[in-house]
Amino acid sequence: MREIYTFETGDSFMTQRKILVTSALPYANGAIHLGHLVEYIQTDIWVRFQKQKGHECYYVCADDAHGTPIMLRADRDGISPEELIAQVWKSHFADFCEFGIAFDNYHSTHSKENKALSELIYNRLNDSGYISTRTITQAFDPVKNMFLPDRFIKGDCPKCGAKDQYGDGCEVCGATYSPTDLKNAVSAISGATPIEKESEHYFFNLADFSQMLCDWTSAGHLQPEVRNKLAEWLEGGLQQWDISRDAPYFGFEIPNAPNKYFYVWLDAPIGYMASFQNLCDKTNLNFDDFWSKESDVELYHFIGKDIIYFHALFWPAMLSGANFRTPSAIFAHGFLTVNGEKMSKSRGTFITARTYLDHLNPEYLRYYFAAKLSSSVDDIDLNFDDFTQRVNSDLVGKVVNIASRCSGFIQKRFDNKLSATCAEPELFAQFIAEHDTIAQHYEQREFGKAMREIMALADKANQYIDEKKPWTIAKQEGEDAQLHDVCSVAINLFRVLAAYLKPVLPALTGEADVFLNSPVHGWIDELKPLVNHQLNDFKPLMTRVESDKIKAIVDASKDDLLKV
Ligand code: MSP
Ligand code: ZN
Repeated sequence: MREIYTFETGDSFMTQRKILVTSALPYANGAIHLGHLVEYIQTDIWVRFQKQKGHECYYVCADDAHGTPIMLRADRDGISPEELIAQVWKSHFADFCEFGIAFDNYHSTHSKENKALSELIYNRLNDSGYISTRTITQAFDPVKNMFLPDRFIKGDCPKCGAKDQYGDGCEVCGATYSPTDLKNAVSAISGATPIEKESEHYFFNLADFSQMLCDWTSAGHLQPEVRNKLAEWLEGGLQQWDISRDAPYFGFEIPNAPNKYFYVWLDAPIGYMASFQNLCDKTNLNFDDFWSKESDVELYHFIGKDIIYFHALFWPAMLSGANFRTPSAIFAHGFLTVNGEKMSKSRGTFITARTYLDHLNPEYLRYYFAAKLSSSVDDIDLNFDDFTQRVNSDLVGKVVNIASRCSGFIQKRFDNKLSATCAEPELFAQFIAEHDTIAQHYEQREFGKAMREIMALADKANQYIDEKKPWTIAKQEGEDAQLHDVCSVAINLFRVLAAYLKPVLPALTGEADVFLNSPVHGWIDELKPLVNHQLNDFKPLMTRVESDKIKAIVDASKDDLLKV
């Protein structure tokens, strides 16, 4: 496999890279919320950047449609799981589109491609002796006639006695335990007292991959803090992974194992491959070029820090055991907090994508997250005051303001035509000279640093306008040429800024392209100033965040709570 993690951007002999990117697959039993969007926006910015750089890059994702919660939710709603996942797919997809998340393919794990690939991978693992079976005892709901996942058993905490705690841990005292330790345990589905029941389960022998995983996790595929976490897990020893669930279960049946289903987390990451297979079938891409052991394509998974175990241990082991390539890197991000605290339904800070879209421009959030994101797994905070202030001061006050301060003169006095020469070639060149630094920040997922560089340039453009004072020149007799030059320089600087912001603000920069009448497609290294160039009429590109809108979002999110 090609070593690409230290890829240098900006060299003149740069080759075109081939890249496949994924975001984690959202569960099909709930709405997309702002926490999810940290990940989809982060990934989308990175992919848009790679495409703008001219690389061949594909971004695939899917709904994660299997598992007990989805089965039970469909049951509760009185519809089939298939109907539920079809409805949720539509709403997820609509939310993503409106937030400008540009997947090359958005599929579902409940698909024929995923069934075929899951069976293929399982059969290969089984043929190589990596699967074993064993009988285990589990809690069973005698009324609903089904085994109960830990989350579906409730009772009193064995440690502090708090009532109504889940089977896997206490939310009051933080104790973790097994559901059999709960006092007065009941099934959260039927209210019945669970009984113990035996059943045969299928296991993936993760320990067979201990050496492979030790090597892989220390070979530069992971962020340093993630690698350290994994070293701890590996030192603790690897357990067999239970990959089967008994009927009734919404998922795929295990080949030659009647009434046994693949656990949702077995077929979920295979959903990355399945979505890509589905894309191959619609285009002329070749699946094996991307997934075979010999592939030199870069493969990246963007995920949240809560699912590292699945992606950095189970997934590479499964792939390697089934004779597929492993990921080039896994990029984990932290969790979103709102106003410094965990998102909370009662505080109205558990905000769905839809509620946000009902009130505010999605590009505000894209910019805000970009400004906060780095390559680390640190949590990121959405603070409403900071959000308002940053968007208003950076995007509206700095970037858009450059165009709105100067476009009027160009329109009224010069028929929307830029002057015949660039009056400040050095200033323009300074803006272009930052392209390598900004590209490296984007490449390394240091979006916050990229935004700071771009805003420093925006400050510079505004200083230039402040010094030249076009509004004063405009009142002077015989200074038309100077007015024309100053405003043309400013518009050209605005164009460079818009080009740098393209990965983050596709809608705003798309509108800027219309105004500028000369879309920027590639990266900025070769951009030349527009001279003698006809513009279109300027239309306001972005308005300020109004704080009453944020209050409306919080209120609506509290109302959402009443609907559940
Ligand atoms: N279905 C699994 C992923 C399977 S990938 C083969 C899952 N789904 S999820 O809907 O719970 O989460 C999807 C992604 O969103 C995960 O990467 C998760 O970490 C991320 N986030 C969910 N809530 C989040 C926050 N509050 N903050 C940041 N990211 C969050 O896990
Ligand atoms: Zn407790």
